Amino acid sequence: MEKENECRQIVDWTREGILRPGMVLLKHYLTIREQILIVRTCQELGNGPGGFYQPGYNDGAKLRLRMMCLGLDWDPQTRKYGKKRQVDGCEPSVIPCEFKQLVQRSMSEAHALIKMDSKVSNVEDILPALSPDICIVNFYNTSGRLGLHQDRDESRYSLKKGLPVVSFSVGDSAEFLYGDERDANKAEKVLLESGDVLIFGGESRHVFHGVSSINPNSAPGALLENTMLRPGRLNLTFRQY
Ligand code: SIN
Ligand code: MN
Repeated sequence: MEKENECRQIVDWTREGILRPGMVLLKHYLTIREQILIVRTCQELGNGPGGFYQPGYNDGAKLRLRMMCLGLDWDPQTRKYGKKRQVDGCEPSVIPCEFKQLVQRSMSEAHALIKMDSKVSNVEDILPALSPDICIVNFYNTSGRLGLHQDRDESRYSLKKGLPVVSFSVGDSAEFLYGDERDANKAEKVLLESGDVLIFGGESRHVFHGVSSINPNSAPGALLENTMLRPGRLNLTFRQY
């Protein structure tokens, strides 16, 4: 019995495919080349104006990550999007075309998986398509984390339609929590590894989610050899305002 549970836990922890209606995990979907391109591009943009900074909340507490926004700025204090960021007045860089292409390819793959699984006539009823105009790039060092929250600062149209959040993970792996409540004890967990793409839209658009820990020294060697990626995890979330 104990063995059975152990096995089940391993299967759960590393599972892929459809996690919930509208929530799809594509394991190791981004190639190493694509991951290298993502890291190099984020390093370049992250070191320029509008690049990485450590944001804070209203109460003065700092987020346990560094952030950079592309397309539109998201302000964790006001929870609003804008053309410039408050902290230094910088305008975010545009989202690189290559990133947008990777989002569209990931969406096609997710739609194909849903089609196989559910035989619905229109996969977009389960997972709507998006045209991303926001990318929030987070860098977590090995002690970084992000509490359970919902992404609900996009436009009413986007939220009502369930336009998805598309998330790329690169670098060290992370323990990712998700569930119906802001309660880590009730949340499910899944391992997000370098190259994984997680998509949540449709009826999963308002899922609570967060990052409970980063696993040090878990990034692919080929990624580290070809980039100057520091220990930690890069996460890009694409959304449509
Ligand atoms: C986020 O919720 O904005 C980021 C999630 C992640 O790092 O996987
Ligand atoms: Mn989020």
